[in-house]
Amino acid sequence: MIEQRRRFQGGRHPVWMEEAFVCMIDQRALPHEEILLRLGSYPETTAAIRDMAVRGAGSIGVAAGFAMAQAALNAPASGFLEEMERAAAHIRLARPTAKNLFYAVDRVLAAVKETSSPEQARQRARMEAQAVAEDDARMTQEIAKAGLPLIPAGEAVLTHCNAGWLAYPGWGTALAPIYLAHEQGIRVFVYATETRPRSQGAKLTTWELAQAGIPHALLADTAVGFTMRKGEIGMVIVGADRIAANGDTANKIGTYSLSILAESHGIPFYVAAPSPTFDAECPSGDQIPIEERDEREVLEATGRSAAGVVESVRVATPGIRARNPAFDVTPAKWITGFITECGIVEPQPQAIAQFLDKRRHALLR
Ligand code: MRU
Repeated sequence: MIEQRRRFQGGRHPVWMEEAFVCMIDQRALPHEEILLRLGSYPETTAAIRDMAVRGAGSIGVAAGFAMAQAALNAPASGFLEEMERAAAHIRLARPTAKNLFYAVDRVLAAVKETSSPEQARQRARMEAQAVAEDDARMTQEIAKAGLPLIPAGEAVLTHCNAGWLAYPGWGTALAPIYLAHEQGIRVFVYATETRPRSQGAKLTTWELAQAGIPHALLADTAVGFTMRKGEIGMVIVGADRIAANGDTANKIGTYSLSILAESHGIPFYVAAPSPTFDAECPSGDQIPIEERDEREVLEATGRSAAGVVESVRVATPGIRARNPAFDVTPAKWITGFITECGIVEPQPQAIAQFLDKRRHALLR
């Protein structure tokens, strides 16, 4: 199992660096095939982010940090910083919504600028990119601990998309408290929503949960209201791609509808995310850039046929068009709380500012 190859301190890592190569589990092939990609240059790593071989806010960030390290390795000594700025601009265009991508690129670029020679900068870029991955993994362990007491005994937890270790290195975000509960022998049952159009729930979350031996069932996106009304869901935990200063949260398309359903059934709705996903400079959800992806993702479905062939088939009426917004924004008012590396943070501006201040000071020490 390739996922076990990267099981080191701080949980599991879906993307890592070996010498000049960025290696990653190709998440497009899961759960049918386990394919490992070895990418030799920052444009290749950027393309892997854009094409979603690696996806999920934290993993996108880590891949972007490693792409910057690759850029540093290959940049010529003359015009080194200009080349790093060019690479940063290129990588930033890979995907627009997840804050972690911009966080990682800026962090590696800032580290490089502190050095006094290209040789030093190459080493520093590699170290900083690795630090992004390891800091992320540590934060997910803290999220696991903070979220554990919230897991309702004997009731099912619903999650959307994939916010496990494939999406955020370490323990994942939304799945982190669930992994910890399971490890501690607490009975926990998970409903994973299918998450059309790319089906990250059906393909990735169920794969992770099955590997961990956590009891779960797949739920069609359209079955959530029915299941909540029957009293079969005790809590919702989702991850996040970007959280604005006022607490509005961008996450996988469909999260907004889930939050309203949870609110109207009196079910707690938590967002699990560490500080690199928060965007203090973004005042509200209205300013979060929302990615629109290719309409084919909606018009088609991809899976494995009875003959064992992975293929895409057209589902929709021939000749029609589709819209494909990949994320939506859940207003802070529908969020019960943020599960962070510093505990539970209330979904309101002062609490978020205090949390981010605390994190900034911790990093400066
Ligand atoms: O389009 P994706 O698969 O990258 O979207 C991922 C999500 O929306 C996750 O729920 C989100 O990143 C939170 S997990 C870190």
